[in-house]
Amino acid sequence: MRLPVSALVALLPFYLDIVLAQGSSGTGKTTRYWDCCKPSCAWPRKSNGPNPVQTCDKNDRPLNDGGNTKSGCDNGGSAFMCSSQSPWAVNETVAYGWAAVNIAGSNEASWCCACYELTFTAAPLIGKKLIVQATNTGGDLGNNHFDLAIPGGGVGIFNACTSQYGAPSNGWGERYGGISSKSACASFPNALKAGCNWRFDWFKGADNPPVTFKQVACPAAITAKSNCARQNDAINQTPTGPSTVPTWVP
Ligand SMILES: *[C@@H]1O[C@H](CO)[C@@H](O)[C@H](O)[C@H]1NC(C)=O
Repeated sequence: MRLPVSALVALLPFYLDIVLAQGSSGTGKTTRYWDCCKPSCAWPRKSNGPNPVQTCDKNDRPLNDGGNTKSGCDNGGSAFMCSSQSPWAVNETVAYGWAAVNIAGSNEASWCCACYELTFTAAPLIGKKLIVQATNTGGDLGNNHFDLAIPGGGVGIFNACTSQYGAPSNGWGERYGGISSKSACASFPNALKAGCNWRFDWFKGADNPPVTFKQVACPAAITAKSNCARQNDAINQTPTGPSTVPTWVP
């Protein structure tokens, strides 16, 4: 079938919608961390939305500071990651959380506060989905890399957990990878216990499982906790679903 030029021109906007309105997708890798530091997307104007990611004071109380407090990982800084940005299970197949992100061919301005639906492609998690919001980045992250924020997952390069919670000098467990059994979560600060346990319950203690990913509008239950939502960009960014969802307990 040949369409007249006028028809093609009339259809062009719909074609562009389909081509542009997809966000990023692909295959990716995961690691895990929890360094207690203020995440990078908590500084002003990192995302295209009005608010930076919420951070907390040393006692885990929201700072509501517009993003202007120095990180607890910098000398004299007093902004830390809020424990409320720990992962939780929505049901047996879906969980919500946060991550430090690096998307191939993209940049921090494009991924700060964007959400990605990760589908695990290896046992024991095959088919399970974790929707994460990007709150951070990292110089040590490779392409399409999601460093999942999980309490007890290892502090990595930086460590504010010692000053915030009195954690051992290399954080809880190994500096990279963190603790290795659920029993270690029992001695964690109360605010971090649930997120620590999540790794051994819903996440089945998986060790850096591979994923496929696609950018999605954030669940409102995630943006309600981070206080950060993007304005429309490659996709419609209006947060979806209820602003609170129950926690599935195994
Ligand atoms: C799990 O929760 C997600 C998000 O609310 C929902 O889309 C999905 O249908 C739920 N799955 C089950 C098995 O309840």
